[in-house]
Amino acid sequence: MIFGRVKSLDAILATAAKKSLHRSLGPVQLTMLGIGGIIGTGIFVLTAEAAQKAGPGMILAFIIAGFVCAVAALCYAEMAAMVPVSGSAYTYSYAVMGELVAWMVGWALVLEYAVAAGAVSVGWSGYVVGLFQAMTGITIPKDFILGPIDGGIVNVPAAIIAGLVTWLLVLGTKESATVNAVLVGIKIAALALFVVLALPVMHLQNFHPFAPTGFGGISAAAASIFFAYVGFDAVSTAAEETKNPQRNMPIGLIGSLGVCTVFYILVAMGVIGGVGAQPMLDGSGHAIATGSTELAQSCSAIHDNAVVCSKEALAWTLRQIGWPQIGNLLGLAAGLALPSVILMMMFGQTRIFFVMSRDGLLPTGLSKVHPKYRTPHVITIITGIFVAIFAALFPVGALADISNSGTLFAFMLVAIAVMVLRKTDPDRRRPFRTPAVVPVASLAVLGCIYLFFSLSNYTITLFFSWAAIGLVVYFLYGYRMSNVARGIVETHELDEDAPHSPIDPLL
Ligand code: ALA
Repeated sequence: MIFGRVKSLDAILATAAKKSLHRSLGPVQLTMLGIGGIIGTGIFVLTAEAAQKAGPGMILAFIIAGFVCAVAALCYAEMAAMVPVSGSAYTYSYAVMGELVAWMVGWALVLEYAVAAGAVSVGWSGYVVGLFQAMTGITIPKDFILGPIDGGIVNVPAAIIAGLVTWLLVLGTKESATVNAVLVGIKIAALALFVVLALPVMHLQNFHPFAPTGFGGISAAAASIFFAYVGFDAVSTAAEETKNPQRNMPIGLIGSLGVCTVFYILVAMGVIGGVGAQPMLDGSGHAIATGSTELAQSCSAIHDNAVVCSKEALAWTLRQIGWPQIGNLLGLAAGLALPSVILMMMFGQTRIFFVMSRDGLLPTGLSKVHPKYRTPHVITIITGIFVAIFAALFPVGALADISNSGTLFAFMLVAIAVMVLRKTDPDRRRPFRTPAVVPVASLAVLGCIYLFFSLSNYTITLFFSWAAIGLVVYFLYGYRMSNVARGIVETHELDEDAPHSPIDPLL
């Protein structure tokens, strides 16, 4: 009975117990950690996608996605505080719902982290290329800055940044809390400047029609823009390093999500009010699918002269409303800050693979640690190659949607796991308890299902195909080879090579 194959929670916790990290993080640092992980390609780039899907109604999409993320985050926090070891949702599922579910979660997290790293790399490329072109007047041929679906051949800058970040991770780069704080400052300053310049020149008529694609369009936009909120796990995985987690975790999670939601709504209003955000329609009056060749062609026909065509939506808007230099500055801010989001995503991916391999579900050779740098270099390089390929070939919106499908699946299972564990193991120590757990976790489950099925059919099909491949791989390999299957109980008392957060509060 494979559902009975659970990894004992006590064995998992024995890993953490020996480690006793210094509890140094307070509510402000946690909120900064969250904002550092959250603000990225989503707001800087996907605003254009959301506009193409929902028009001005994207404001509602930001609110819906933010809400689902907030309830999911509260569940995530209970698990993270109770099982504060590497592997996040994968590890929690192993303890609560067994090996098969854990494997499927880990498999889905590949979509969340690796594909998201690809999406952020493409977003970075859009801004850096835009900045370069605006500063030098040189137009780089589309063939080398866009993937094939977007009308180019290969997105070279996106692949390069993915490669550079991989290299940093192999060397064991961790971001210091100070660097994180500086980058958060840059991102917030960039968005604040945008809001201050765009809101006063808002044209209210740009908000009509508000929902040209109906509620279906708003739901689709919410499912995509959900990407803009992902990354708060940086907060929950720091549970062990947090002072008074019961109080500070929710402040950090809800605080960072709240700050981001407010900024996102103001930025969306600035884009809509400043330059208009109506979708491009096809011959029969329907919004053209984002990330499609058809949209790329329609945009080419109008020389990309609409925000929905821009690969650097916010910088483009500022240039349109008469602030070209500030637009460039915003491009610079994105160029500086987005690599740290790629770093966090790739770090998450390598650590999940690392733990899965250590559990015997993937070949153990993958978790080899570099003799000099003490990093899991094999898995980091393999991850980096895939991220670079995704980034080189696919449009940002498609990558973000695929990443969201994996994330929504994992979040849903974490919310279920929280409820299950409250029943099956009510007395275990919970440094943080999800408030009003039944309604909150139920809302998280329903919200994830709703957003998942609002993704494009193409994305949903891809997710299930990926899951089917995962099942085959599991029964061919992990089912026989896992440590649990072979009766090996390991506790990795030091767990030193699988650190928790790519941001080191002590650096
Ligand atoms: N929330 C992160 C971003 O938007 C993943 O880039």
